[in-house]
Amino acid sequence: MSVLRAPVIWLTERRSFRRLAADSAIGRRVAGRFVAGESLDDALRAARELDRRGIASMLDHLGENADSEAMCADAADAYIRALKRIHEAEELDCNISVKLTQLGLDQSYGFCLENTERVLEAARTTLVMIDMEASEYVDRTLRILGDLRARHENVGVAFQSMLRRTAQDVFALPEGTPVRLVKGAYLEPESVAHTSRGEVDRAFAHLLATLVARDHPVHVATHDPRLIDGARRHLHRTGYPWAKVEFQMLYGIRRDLQVGLAREGYPIRTYIPYGNQWYPYLTRRLAERPANMWFFASQLVRGGGGKT
Ligand code: FDA
Repeated sequence: MSVLRAPVIWLTERRSFRRLAADSAIGRRVAGRFVAGESLDDALRAARELDRRGIASMLDHLGENADSEAMCADAADAYIRALKRIHEAEELDCNISVKLTQLGLDQSYGFCLENTERVLEAARTTLVMIDMEASEYVDRTLRILGDLRARHENVGVAFQSMLRRTAQDVFALPEGTPVRLVKGAYLEPESVAHTSRGEVDRAFAHLLATLVARDHPVHVATHDPRLIDGARRHLHRTGYPWAKVEFQMLYGIRRDLQVGLAREGYPIRTYIPYGNQWYPYLTRRLAERPANMWFFASQLVRGGGGKT
């Protein structure tokens, strides 16, 4: 993990920085590298472009830590609208990913379960993945997942290799649950998370092997070429069916790798965020790669923010 991650997150959480970034033309331009646009049409346009290159997609209607029940119900409705359009676009291989704090996890367990189930019902057989958020949400996320898996097959969850607990959580997963394996994007204390890159990467490789051994559909979600190569070697060696595997990457990151994997015939899917609640998403992308932050800061200083 980069030593600059904590200061970057600290800075992006300052109200003054947020105002400067979220309300400026430059902020939007930088966000535009990682976010497909503000509307569902923008997201579907991005999905179609990827489809032409043999890359599947997964839509994420941006939003998290919603403040009110009304906002959570609106977020569920937005996903239901997205699913309707996905079902109409039969040619597209496209599913969705949700954040439970967008659907009411901060309000109440039952309310969140109800909203998420509403989305799952609208999804029919389309897969709905649940993002894994900060460590304080993991217990509740896994409990909701368990409740949903008892009634629906089309739901899976993301697991973060940086969290120490994931090594045990993986054994408590309902059978057959699709798992997206990621390193983890949140700033966590050492008591709950591995802090060195080596540990996070080793945990990633170990978790992948466990998921394969336990026969879970697995989404290898990283842009790290070493982990991707390691995953490929492991999957070829074990003869794990490719129908149960996907490589996944984020919109706007390592497009070369995404296109390369597609050309080689590997199953690959891009996570496409869209909507106007892009600031928290952007801060995580900036923190992952401080070079993004320097670029952003220099543009802000040079352009004086260009408020819109
Ligand atoms: P790493 O950070 O080591 O990056 C490897 C290489 O990728 C870098 O050298 C660089 O080239 C490129 N790269 C990575 N991030 C970049 C950036 N921001 N800008 C430019 N280049 C960058 N996290 C989470 O906590 N919960 C979740 O549910 C999800 N969901 C999710 C879905 C999908 C499809 C992906 C790909 C990722 C997530 N993540 C996530 C994010 C994940 O935890 C992680 O923070 C990022 O993927 C970055 O880590 P990498 O594995 O790419 O490795």
